[in-house]
Amino acid sequence: MSVSETAYSHEYIHNILKRAHCQGPELSVGEIEALLSIGHPDGLESLYAIADKVRKDTAGDGIHLRGLIEFSNYCRRNCLYCGLRRANRRLTRYRMDQTEVLGVVQAMAERGIKTVVLQSGEDPHFTQARMVSLVEKIKSRFDIAITLSVGIRSQKDLIAFRAAGADRYLLRHETANRQLYSQLHPDSRLGDRVEMLHALSELGYDIGTGPMVGLPGQTYRDLALDIDLARRLKADMFGVGPFIPHPDTPLSEAQEGTAEDTFKMIALARIVLREVHIPVTTALTTLDAEAREKGWNRGANVVMPNGTPAPYREQYELYKDKRCLQDSLKRCAVCLQMRVQSVSRHISSGYGDSLRSDRQRSS
Ligand code: 5AD
Ligand code: SF4
Ligand code: FES
Repeated sequence: MSVSETAYSHEYIHNILKRAHCQGPELSVGEIEALLSIGHPDGLESLYAIADKVRKDTAGDGIHLRGLIEFSNYCRRNCLYCGLRRANRRLTRYRMDQTEVLGVVQAMAERGIKTVVLQSGEDPHFTQARMVSLVEKIKSRFDIAITLSVGIRSQKDLIAFRAAGADRYLLRHETANRQLYSQLHPDSRLGDRVEMLHALSELGYDIGTGPMVGLPGQTYRDLALDIDLARRLKADMFGVGPFIPHPDTPLSEAQEGTAEDTFKMIALARIVLREVHIPVTTALTTLDAEAREKGWNRGANVVMPNGTPAPYREQYELYKDKRCLQDSLKRCAVCLQMRVQSVSRHISSGYGDSLRSDRQRSS
């Protein structure tokens, strides 16, 4: 990152930290940037402690499980960082059929998971009718909330998915720096993403967004703007993970993001956005096996166990060496239960709907 802590006086940082607990939502972009630049262990400890307190006050001690199903790795886009990009010919492509997806949802429901996340590349095979049919079947058979994470779709599609029963939508903005966004996404515009997030919100979806950390050329200023964008969107969920280079992409030689910068983003998202669900992402867990425990103590309250079956799971290769590649849903559930208990928290039995009190929803 380009600006180091030495650019700010110790006193300046200390004063912002003092205000952060009560006045987090009002911190300016410059102040968020200053806190992101903290490097000293004492400063980091204070930052994380504040985030943990705010998490307790706003989200409580429950940790929500969101069961992830990566149902197609076809993608029509060419994002420079992503292993699923259409130009990557080395990847074996797959689509799960409806029966396979319903089987995984059933296994999740039987384990008490209250949210399923249906994620894919931007795959035109999954037309409006196919998605609607899948969402309707899940909703009619299981008591489970549905989060969609399928990229850019038309307004008509979004209306139809919502009417079919979809509750939430994840669409990361990836970076709020317009120029960097354009460099990384040859075929999409930041403005379109932001517009779609507004549209989703108006349709009554809970919305999730967030950036990657450590993209080539990205600064702490950019990361502060990422949090500010989520604040302006009134995001219900904020997902953030480190960028991890994939060998079969144009960014194969780029440097990866750091776990520490990602933890700082989790903490600051909690402090500024407050009533928001924040996962410890798989990408962060890939860099640090203890990331879940650390993240839950630094502002996060969600984890997303992966239910994608073999052989598909390893083919959903956004980046290399994803965590839990060989582990069954059952094994991860047992493992997560232990990890949650080790930080004196519990797995929530609720749906984990939006924590926000300031938004009227049309559902
Ligand atoms: N490293 C880390 N995260 C990535 N994603 C895509 N490619 C990478 C990568 N190389 C993230 C993007 C996307 C989410 C599904 O995965 O943020 O929105
Ligand atoms: Fe496709 Fe998403 Fe990967 Fe971009 S980040 S190439 S839209 S799967
Ligand atoms: Fe998958 Fe621990 S969460 S094995």
